[in-house]
Amino acid sequence: MADPLIDRDELAAAVRLIEREAEEYLGSLDDSPARAPGQPELDEALPEEGVGSLRALSELVAVSVEGAVRSSGPRYFHFVTGGVTPAALGADWLTSTLDQMAYNWTSSTLASRLEQISTRWLKEMFGLPSDWSAVITTGTTIANFVGLAAARRWFGLQHGVDVDADGLWGVPPVPVFASGYLHASAVKALGMLGLGRDRVQILTRDSAGRIDLVALRAALDQLGGKPAIVIATAGDVNTGDFDPLREISELAHDHGAWLHVDGAFGLFAALSPLTRHLVDGVDQADSVAVDGHKWLNVPYDTGFVFVRDASLHAGPFSQSAAYLGREALARPVFGNLVPEMSRRARALPVWATLRAYGRDGYRAMVERHLELAKRVARQVDDASELERLAEVPLNVVCFRFHPPDVPEAELDELNRRIGAMVLEDGRVYFGTTEYAGKVAFRPAIVNWLTTERDVDLIVEVVREMGAKVLATAPGR
Ligand SMILES: Cc1ncc(COP(=O)(O)O)c(C=O)c1O
Repeated sequence: MADPLIDRDELAAAVRLIEREAEEYLGSLDDSPARAPGQPELDEALPEEGVGSLRALSELVAVSVEGAVRSSGPRYFHFVTGGVTPAALGADWLTSTLDQMAYNWTSSTLASRLEQISTRWLKEMFGLPSDWSAVITTGTTIANFVGLAAARRWFGLQHGVDVDADGLWGVPPVPVFASGYLHASAVKALGMLGLGRDRVQILTRDSAGRIDLVALRAALDQLGGKPAIVIATAGDVNTGDFDPLREISELAHDHGAWLHVDGAFGLFAALSPLTRHLVDGVDQADSVAVDGHKWLNVPYDTGFVFVRDASLHAGPFSQSAAYLGREALARPVFGNLVPEMSRRARALPVWATLRAYGRDGYRAMVERHLELAKRVARQVDDASELERLAEVPLNVVCFRFHPPDVPEAELDELNRRIGAMVLEDGRVYFGTTEYAGKVAFRPAIVNWLTTERDVDLIVEVVREMGAKVLATAPGR
């Protein structure tokens, strides 16, 4: 096999091969362990002569079935990992088939139109004003980056400097404030923006990381009306807890500060009357970041950013060239709202899944997950050797193994060992974190397929692994 052109006749067979294999893989997810069955050997030498698409795909399927962690399945509770709804999966395949370049309306009117419509739907779902600027990103890291880039532009203009044109030279260091819930990705974004990862001031009133509003007020007072950026988190990755958005927005705006909200998965609380109060005030923010590959259950990698002031959003990312064309400003050039110019048409799966299940379908799923999280919390509370470490306002249950006779000093190591065993066992999949200075588990429920029988394994497996460790511990 040489030139791919020779392979042209295999196109239909390649599609059928993947369809057949995907069906089998997806059909096995309900009953297979969440961990990867193995790590297959892969030849590392660059092939001089190709084997053709069908053989290459067959080889890839074989190594994937063996080597893929079942993150699209119902018992993968690590990180905050959604699955892929049927509508999103079909649309994602179509995305590769159509291979649209979602830069502007000339590169693909279809992709631009779908992005415009689906981000409008999302604003409605999340209770954000319809006139905000919006774009699809690769996830919340870049959504945070984009939102904070708009904030940086605003900060510069407050000092009479166009930082996107002239750089940061003429502006003072940017004061940034957040609670202990601040996600690592927002810190990373601050670093990438040249604002400094270590400059953010974390204002907490306890070891769990809750915001200290008194300290925030004092810090903003001290600036005497000079501009600053406040980052609030809607959905702490360890517990699903929320910064009080309305209070923070009032404080920020009373002091002339920018408010960015990281609502990666927490913004989905807006979908249910049971949790909507948790995001009260989000519409007062200046920029908001949300994820797609978490609770929306579209494939990696998808996220969204919403910015109140369209010109501040476009400022950092607008760059053209004669060959790219000049489009009327009435229509957003999506490739000028994110770092990437050439972009995958991620709007197709977003549009398809929203069209397929609607606001009601997503509310039903979110409410099922809320109920499942409460169920796990009850099981933790009922087990004498488990300790729940936080309230469960949303979909994350933070707890640890804590038998009454094990001293505090040994608990972190004990829980780390159990965490490693849980991953190795693979019936369920989640790691450990550190919460309030304690090593803990934090399974997050976001997969559309997850049901009671899946979450019931969380406590069962931790208890089983815990008993095993204790049984082999010297002196017990
Ligand atoms: C609150 C929060 N923000 C940001 C992120 C980063 O999102 P992504 O991995 O999609 O970039 C996460 C991921 O878990 C998160 O929970």
